[in-house]
Amino acid sequence: MLQRNANSNLAHQELNEMMPHVDSAQGLSLVLGIETSCDETAAAVVERRANGQGRVLSNVVLSQFDKHAIYGGVVPEIAARAHTDCLDRLVHAALAEAKIGLSDLSGIAAASGPGLIGGLIVGATTAKALALATGKPFLAINHLEAHALTVGLTDGVRPPYLMLLVSGGHTQLLLVEDVGRYRRLATTIDDALGEAYDKTAKLLGLSMPGGPAVEKAALSGNPHRFDLPRPMAGRDDPHFSFAGLKTAVRHAAMKIAPLSQADVVDLCASFQAAVCESVVDRVQRAMRAVLPSLPEGRPKPFVVAGGVAANKVLRTALVGISEEFGFAFHAPPLGLCTDNGAMIAWAGAERLALGFIDGLQAPVRPRWPLDPDAVKAAGAGIKA
Ligand code: KG4
Ligand code: ZN
Repeated sequence: MLQRNANSNLAHQELNEMMPHVDSAQGLSLVLGIETSCDETAAAVVERRANGQGRVLSNVVLSQFDKHAIYGGVVPEIAARAHTDCLDRLVHAALAEAKIGLSDLSGIAAASGPGLIGGLIVGATTAKALALATGKPFLAINHLEAHALTVGLTDGVRPPYLMLLVSGGHTQLLLVEDVGRYRRLATTIDDALGEAYDKTAKLLGLSMPGGPAVEKAALSGNPHRFDLPRPMAGRDDPHFSFAGLKTAVRHAAMKIAPLSQADVVDLCASFQAAVCESVVDRVQRAMRAVLPSLPEGRPKPFVVAGGVAANKVLRTALVGISEEFGFAFHAPPLGLCTDNGAMIAWAGAERLALGFIDGLQAPVRPRWPLDPDAVKAAGAGIKA
């Protein structure tokens, strides 16, 4: 089995060398992207022009929320099986919507980490099989890198830029120095921000996914009713923390239980106000720190991405702080903040343009830090 894989890979690499990765006549590449790292199965095709401009030709996302809802969280085994059930269909749909066939592709990309190992194996193996069958290059994509680069596709923003990555599993401030080069400035020492939203939603009996449910409830709530902590605010330490805030919501809720609808929306609004103040404080600190290192004479971009970047209240707060510090604010459109195939395809296209192609032996990596040299944050445990 090992021998066959090794031989197949050799043949694959030889084929790659013989085939142009980019249609040089038109200077554009077409990349299929597959995302299966958590509870969304997604496939998409993007086009990348030689000048770095991108366009989404198709973007198909199938959420598994209903399959996990009764368990109150994502069940890895169920997620992996659900990806297996529908991925072929989604790849077909993405190619059909883009009006291309497999032979038109320049490369095939799959999220290969970080994430749930079962899902990663489904997506990466599917992409590798397609790459092997077609002789196209395979691109093993770091899911966090895909979030980080999405603004290149949507807004044409090129590195270097300061970035806040806020998802269900990660909360980081990064200096995106170049494609493939990331410096982590801060991380969460406990819960990720999306995780704090999801746990708060669960505590208050709201539906999954928790982030949008809390945001919606907060719309009609009083953000000043509950006096919740602003974690890490004012601290020199650059990191984030949300576990204490989540616990403070629990204590506030327990004190007044049973909760009325008005209590729930006020708790959501108060939680979200605390989140925004804490995040703005941390971003402000990072802006001050990186400002001198960003090149003069061009806009200094500040980018927010990842599922929680879909939160409109947080976006508004970050627009404000960007203006104050002279940064140009960028965020993907709402539909490209949460997990999708277009971001994986785009990261693949960017890496392909630089010749960063992966062999079929490339492993999936449930943990895959963007900046392996980052100093471990005290107390951060495995999330560092
Ligand atoms: O990036 P993403 O789709 O998946 C991961 O890579 O984790 O992020 C999902 C997270 C979930 O925790 C979800 O509740 C949160 O993003 N989220 C939001 C919003 N939309 C999604 N959080 C706050 N407000 C939102 N509108
Ligand atoms: Zn994500």
